[in-house]
Amino acid sequence: MSSTYTASITAPVNIATLKYWGKRDTSLNLPTNSSISVTLDQADLKTTTSAMASADFTKDRLWLNGEEDLQLSQSKRLTQVLSSLKEKRRLREAKDESLEKISSWFVHIVSVNNFPTAAGLASSAAGFAALVVCIAKLFELDDDMTELSKIARQGSGSACRSLFGGFVAWEMGSLADGSDSKAVEVCPLNHWPEMKACVLVACADKKDVSSTSGMQLTVKTSDLFQKRIDEVVPERFEQMKKSIHDKNFALFAELTMKDSNSFHATCLDSYPPIFYMNDTSKKIVKLVHLINAFYNETIVAYTFDAGPNAVLYYLEQNELKLMSFIYAMFKDLNGWETKYSTEELNKFISNYDSLKLQELSLDMEIVKGCTRVILTRVGPGPLTIKESLINEHGFPK
Ligand code: DP6
Repeated sequence: MSSTYTASITAPVNIATLKYWGKRDTSLNLPTNSSISVTLDQADLKTTTSAMASADFTKDRLWLNGEEDLQLSQSKRLTQVLSSLKEKRRLREAKDESLEKISSWFVHIVSVNNFPTAAGLASSAAGFAALVVCIAKLFELDDDMTELSKIARQGSGSACRSLFGGFVAWEMGSLADGSDSKAVEVCPLNHWPEMKACVLVACADKKDVSSTSGMQLTVKTSDLFQKRIDEVVPERFEQMKKSIHDKNFALFAELTMKDSNSFHATCLDSYPPIFYMNDTSKKIVKLVHLINAFYNETIVAYTFDAGPNAVLYYLEQNELKLMSFIYAMFKDLNGWETKYSTEELNKFISNYDSLKLQELSLDMEIVKGCTRVILTRVGPGPLTIKESLINEHGFPK
């Protein structure tokens, strides 16, 4: 084989606390509102991507979790993302004669998730973020993450937020060409490293409409939606950023829960209505409010994306308080454990008013409706790795 260039990186999943829902431009993926998210730790959820460019390759190809994905390789989203990155490289080559003209070569991309794609977690966000950062590295582009986020956004809107760690905002922008619709850091990971997340993976029969078509239906048919984008979100965006700067968990949690409810309300207000939350999701909402009432303090917040899974945000110092409930319910589910022993958890909860506890009458149906518990925390943005998923011939190892 003639000379090749390779790069490998990992990228995180992000879960929005202020939801992106609605596009004002479907081809450039420009949103109708700004959004905010927390980047989750790659130790638990990540996409790893390697890319190779070679003059010998005859087309751009992509392998996802071991299988070649012809549909995605030929999709408009992927070709748009790749051609934007190749264009950036071409401009560099035009300025610097010493650079090899790899912008005209084809690339092979190999990508794997360390979590089941079927779990319905934000895999497209981590996937497109990984792809953009990996190819940018391959092409030795000197653009910063905000600049690259505009390209990732065209792959999948939420992907632009996975280019940063910690707490991230996607500023919607107002220009028609999308040049001001970009991700920025609200606060880095080390500003509030105590932020933790507990993902309750709910059994999904079949996913309702995809986010892409769901949001189009909402934009077209929901009356609530207009109020959400004109009044509710702009105010909440500023309040939520402040709650993160101030490390005000009670406010952050309240805004997060209200925004999840507002987003799902616009789904229900679409015509015909879209249901992403199922009965288990609704029971989890109730449980979270009961837990907060039990402690007389907001220690946990829920949020739901375009599916029934719950993501619960809480602070490390309240882990024992939350786990006393979560572990009591889910201890028989395999594949996870808390750092506390059963005795510790039981003893902890028995210190509380037993009458109040009885009143709670935990709805154990929630347990039947969930398949997995994932405990994770706020994490860093994309990371460069040495190990490659591609062999010397340009194929998955
Ligand atoms: C509910 O980013 O998956 O998770 O831009 O069409 O690819 P496309 O949509 P996508 O939508 C995510 C919607 C959400 C909210 C959020 O992540 O902000």
